Parts: sequence; structure tokens; C-alpha cells
Amino acid sequence: MTANTYPIDNVRADFPALRQTVNGCPLTYLDNAATTLKPEAVVEAVRQHYREESANIHRGVHHLSQKATEAYEAARDKVQHFLHAEQREEIIFTSGTTAAINTVAHAFGSTIHADDEIILSEMEHHSNIVPWQMLRERTGCVLRVIPITDDGQLDLAAYEAMLGPRTKLVSVVYVSNSLGTVNPVQRVIDAAHAHGAKVLVDAAQAVACRAVDVRALDCDFLAFSGHKIFGPTGVGVLYGKRVLLDALPPFFGGGDMILSVSFERTTYNALPYKFEAGTPHIAGVIGLGAALDYVNALGLAGIAAHEEDVRDYATRLIARIPGVRLYGTAPEKAAILSFVLEGVHPHDVGQILDTHGVAVRAGHHCTQPVMQRYGIPATARASFSIYNTRADADRLAAAIMQTKELFG
Ligand SMILES: Cc1ncc(COP(=O)(O)O)c(C=O)c1O
Repeated sequence: MTANTYPIDNVRADFPALRQTVNGCPLTYLDNAATTLKPEAVVEAVRQHYREESANIHRGVHHLSQKATEAYEAARDKVQHFLHAEQREEIIFTSGTTAAINTVAHAFGSTIHADDEIILSEMEHHSNIVPWQMLRERTGCVLRVIPITDDGQLDLAAYEAMLGPRTKLVSVVYVSNSLGTVNPVQRVIDAAHAHGAKVLVDAAQAVACRAVDVRALDCDFLAFSGHKIFGPTGVGVLYGKRVLLDALPPFFGGGDMILSVSFERTTYNALPYKFEAGTPHIAGVIGLGAALDYVNALGLAGIAAHEEDVRDYATRLIARIPGVRLYGTAPEKAAILSFVLEGVHPHDVGQILDTHGVAVRAGHHCTQPVMQRYGIPATARASFSIYNTRADADRLAAAIMQTKELFG
């Protein structure tokens, strides 16, 4: 599929939220890096669960519980295939990327000691910084930070110089949510492995725009959130190599993650349940399964071609508006455009764009170190997804022009 044969009209028709007007204008939804809209198929899968099979899973002997369990576990198989994981036991459902990273920070963190080194990058989301700072407080480990270049790429030479015998983990983002940079994670992983370090990939922004193959990448852990790939909020995935997950202690304790409990001794359940304590977000997991079906049917190659076309078109339009400065101009980029309009605070930009029905995000995007790197408090961010068009980019550019005129 090319950008020309991509079924954009069908895709747009699948997303009911796109049928509304905002402030009298058609909704131009460009806040996809924060969360994506949901297709009818996902809404229907969640609705059907609550209407017809709303029962708890795993322990039930009755019909509804078995149906819910089947649907929940079928979603695990879908995630396994989507990530090309070797085994279904390597797929842990969490409440999102944040919970997945925190799980690794506690479970794998139990193997970290004072002076061990963990490498992050300057473009990490706060959810891939703070859990490691909390681990540093618990253990006295050392955090090292890969700097980023002016155009928003990882400084790989600096990274490779940081690796050494004390490096235990490298935790990096695949696609930056504030700069759009697509990081060369394969090279990051290979270099880390050459030093015996493990790698966690934050794929929150990556999974919806490129095929992710955990076996080919050979990453040790990978995290993503359902809501950024057209699924429900409050559900996400931690992938971990079985040999690692098997050896690690659980993070949360409670129901379902045990084999037996007495006051003297508790034994833990097998994977993946060892890491899924308590009643999970059953409807969310089922909705995530439906979202992956949707993405698979459309095809990630077609999605990537479409988004690249819109990204390039939007970049050309916006870059030529006088006073606009783009942040994140790496050659390998997702369809995320962060910008500052000279003389206008990004929050004002966001608010004026909203009066034109154009939804963008303004702020630090939970990446304050990125803002510090560039010496700015915030950016406005337009992020494009499978249902956005060149016409959306036109509306964005026109609304920026009007904002500029308003502020003189
Ligand atoms: C790159 C990246 N990592 C992690 C997260 C955290 O995701 P969640 O809030 O769904 O846990 C986000 C969300 O914006 C993100 O963009």
C-alpha cells in the first residue's frame, strides 16, 4: 500500500469522534502523541464485554467467566504476535507504559546495587526517568544520561563511551514523544549487549507507527500503552524475555499472582500471572486486542507511508511560516511536530488553535529535560495519526497564521 492507495476515507469513517465539530469547525485532532482516538471496533469490543460477558477471569467455573477469560487470553496471543514475541508468557498486561517501566524498575531493580550504572537518554519521558531516580534512592546506583544533538538525535558516540562493566541496564525511548526522533534502538541494544547490559525499550510512541519485532531487536524488556494505539486507557503491556522474567521477583503482590498462600510461606504463580496481581482491566485488554486487529488489518507499512506523506507535507507548510521554529529535525522522524511561534507562549498557541477546532498539545510533554536542553519552557506539538490528512495540516498552518496575526 502506498500513500495514494491508503484507504483514508474508510479509516476516518471508522472513528466516530471525527464526525464532530469543535467551535464551529470540523475537529482537526492533532494530539495523537498524548492519546489516539478509538475506532468503532474497539468501542464495540469493550461494550460487548460489559454488556454480555462482564465477569472476572481465571478463577471462574461458570460460563461468563470462561468467556471473559478466553477473550482476555486471546488478547495476550494478539499482543504476542504483534510484537513477534517467542512466547505468550512473555506478555504481561499492565495499566500502561508507566506501570510497565515501574515494574521493571522494581523487579529488575532488585538485582541493582550501589555503583551499578543505568543509562537513560536526555529525551526520555518522565515515566522513564523518575522510576530510575527512585531506584537510585533505594540502591545508590548511578544514572548516566545520553545527550542529544541540536537536531534531536541521540549522541551515539557519547553513549558508546558510557558503556562499561558497571552498566546494568540501558532504558531508552524508541520514538520521542516531544521531538519525534526515531532512535536507532537496534544499535543501542547491540552496543549494550556487547557490554553485558540489558535493554528496556519504551515503545509507547513506536508501536502505532512502525512494526516492532522484539525477537529481531533482541531487546530484554519493552513497554507500550494501549491508548496510544487506538485502544482503551488504563491498559498496557510489558514484554520481557522469559528467562529474565522467570528469574525476577514479582512487583505487586495479591490475588492471581500466587500458587499458594499461608502466613508462613507464599509461592508465586508462573508467568505471565506472576506479574499480574489483582483483577486486571479486563475490558481494556479485550479492547486492546481489538485495536491490534484494527492496526493489523490496515497494515503498519501502509500506515507508515501515509503518516510520512502527511508529516512531510505538514513540515513543509509549517517550517515556512515566519517566526515558527521546529524542535526535533532528525532525519528519522515520526509524524510529531514540536514548534514554538516567536513571541507567543505555546499555551496561547494551543488555545487559539482550539478556537479553530485544531487540537494540539502545549507544554513540556512530560519531557522537561528536553525543554531544558533547548532552553525553552514548552512547545506546541502537533502529532498526526492514521486518520489525519493533508487537509488537517492545511488547517493547522492556517490557524497558526491566524494566531500570528492576532499577536501582531
Ligand atoms: C514516549 C512515552 N513514554 C511513556 C509514556 C507514558 O505512557 P502512559 O502515560 O500511557 O503510561 C508516554 C506518554 O505520553 C510516552 O509518550
